[in-house]
Amino acid sequence: MKDGPYSFEIKKPNYIPSQYDNHITRHLSNMAGQYLDQDDFENQLAEGDNLLYEVYELKRPEVAGEILHGISIVHPGKVGQEYYMTKGHYHTVLATAEIYYTLQGQGYMVMETPEGDWSVESLSPGSVLYVPPRWAHRSVNIDPTQDLVMFFAYPGDAGHNYASIETQGFRKLVVEVDGSAAVVDNPRWAPPESR
Ligand SMILES: [Fe+2]
Repeated sequence: MKDGPYSFEIKKPNYIPSQYDNHITRHLSNMAGQYLDQDDFENQLAEGDNLLYEVYELKRPEVAGEILHGISIVHPGKVGQEYYMTKGHYHTVLATAEIYYTLQGQGYMVMETPEGDWSVESLSPGSVLYVPPRWAHRSVNIDPTQDLVMFFAYPGDAGHNYASIETQGFRKLVVEVDGSAAVVDNPRWAPPESR
């Protein structure tokens, strides 16, 4: 981590930052319980623990006033009819936002609030997505041929809360239907008042 100002590059063809501090990898085994099709999840895992997504982070102090930033890369693939995706999270400090800038690929950001409001925004090269405070978020790669690559930036004190998503997933799933992506209800999701 540098003390003073710095700059770095994110370029084709692989978009790996020219400098970074952490390289985080998430494999199929890290997504236990996240996919609706548990049978296909187990079958694929028996064949091998595929790499689903990666994050390259620039390390900054995790305090208000700093901005954490880096690159996320979601690889192509599916479990059952559900596309490869990130775990998804709320920020521990709910009142913190995030910005995503898509560099490559096609996908969706699936979002929801603790009250059960939901939103799904499409991601394509050049698109900027603003995730407001209080919205949980998960990125999904719907292109079977290429990585979904995004630059992200969020407040240093935000933190990650995965637990509430892990229990029942998001309200909406992104699945392949007749060869294209569709947003459907998650049958495991329950409204806040019934949990
Ligand atoms: Fe986030």
